[in-house]
Amino acid sequence: MAYNYKDLGLSNTKEMFKKANENGYAVPAFNFNNMEQAMAIVEACAEMGSPVILQCSKGAMDYMGEYMVPMLAKAAVDYVKLSGSDIPVALHLDHGSSFEIAKKCIDCGFSSVMIDGSHHPYEENIAVSKQVVEYAHSKDVTVEAELGVLAGIEDEVKADGHIYTNPDEVEDFVSKTGVDSLAIAIGTSHGAHKFKPGDDPKLRLDILEEIERRIPGFPIVLHGSSAVPAQYVEMIKKYGGTIKDAIGIPDSELRKATKSAVAKINVDTDGRLAFTGAVRKALAEKPGEFDLRKYLGPAKEEMKAYYKTKIVDVFGSEGAYKKANVK
Ligand code: G3H
Ligand code: 13P
Ligand code: ZN
Repeated sequence: MAYNYKDLGLSNTKEMFKKANENGYAVPAFNFNNMEQAMAIVEACAEMGSPVILQCSKGAMDYMGEYMVPMLAKAAVDYVKLSGSDIPVALHLDHGSSFEIAKKCIDCGFSSVMIDGSHHPYEENIAVSKQVVEYAHSKDVTVEAELGVLAGIEDEVKADGHIYTNPDEVEDFVSKTGVDSLAIAIGTSHGAHKFKPGDDPKLRLDILEEIERRIPGFPIVLHGSSAVPAQYVEMIKKYGGTIKDAIGIPDSELRKATKSAVAKINVDTDGRLAFTGAVRKALAEKPGEFDLRKYLGPAKEEMKAYYKTKIVDVFGSEGAYKKANVK
């Protein structure tokens, strides 16, 4: 089915980012892979009065299917209205790797797309980003592109080390492509294993500052920003899972970044850890349980509670819009 995102009640990210930058907070972009995660994300954001970006990778699209994803986003919009909140909801493609994938998502109802040409040579990155912008803007869809390379795994692409974004390139890239926001590499990375115990996890906030000086007010995006909370690593281990001790991005480092032009921060891994920990706990405590609502329900609630704390501790977006009426 072909949908225009406006018919689904979704918003693009333009106004969201403008308001975020003017008010010194960042918009949460939380990844989802199923109904429970989508519910956790939208309920957390509506209850906190925070704008929300429902973020869907190509892998998540393949998993849920292009018929299900826009309907889950529409359900999120309906939930917001029924709850008495007025937060804007965007449906965003995460790490789109080609023009064709971005176009497919735009045509099935996404309000925002990322074209990730960061692994290509500079000129190729410009060319593919510009191609996506031309199509997306003809439908009033916003576009995020990336300069610099994050360490870790993004969908099928694995990078061993960081290539920090070069501030000398950002002005040229943004003006040649016409993108609406720019993801940069300043030391964050994808997945659960960002830093080792004993490391001092620090972001290159000096690079962020220099980028901001080159493109003042332009919305900046940070990927790979999960904190990898120790309580979920412990919960997973306690209830039979295996996971190496890992450290993520400290909330305090990210909080500094949201005060600048950082308008969007991506979190996926933390939601996976909270959800997995809670499923393991529920099943371990009730080994005879096979009503899936009895273990997916607590997992949804765990993820929701965690994201509510993240909105306060990191994003600073609480109360930017009307909160849901919660009894
Ligand atoms: O940056 C990558 C996201 O965490 C999405 O991961 O491709 O496994 O859905 P995924
Ligand atoms: P994390 O793996 O740190 O959650 O990063 C998610 C992300 O950047 C999605 O694009
Ligand atoms: Zn990412």
